[in-house]
Amino acid sequence: MTTLTIQPSGKTVEAAPGTSILQAILAAGEKLVSKCGGEAKCGACHVFVTEGRKTVSKMSPLENGKLDTLVGVGSKSRLACQTLLGTEPVTVELLGALSGF
Ligand code: FES
Repeated sequence: MTTLTIQPSGKTVEAAPGTSILQAILAAGEKLVSKCGGEAKCGACHVFVTEGRKTVSKMSPLENGKLDTLVGVGSKSRLACQTLLGTEPVTVELLGALSGF
């Protein structure tokens, strides 16, 4: 198990490596919209991975292409539905109004 910390609430959740960040965020009781059901199509699950970027799964061309269409994307941007937790702790920041709307 590894730990996901969710900002700005500071909530933490334990999750198995291979769990998507989206699943872990929802399991923690946080709100994150996923309009496309986790298929890298809506961009609504855009988050910043602020710590643990090396431990999470690599970005696929599909995810990269979707991120290119979003506003407010930076070097820490990932789609939570496409990003799988690794073995090290990860911190993400939920973007609220910036999350693809
Ligand atoms: S849930 Fe639609 S892109 Fe992640």
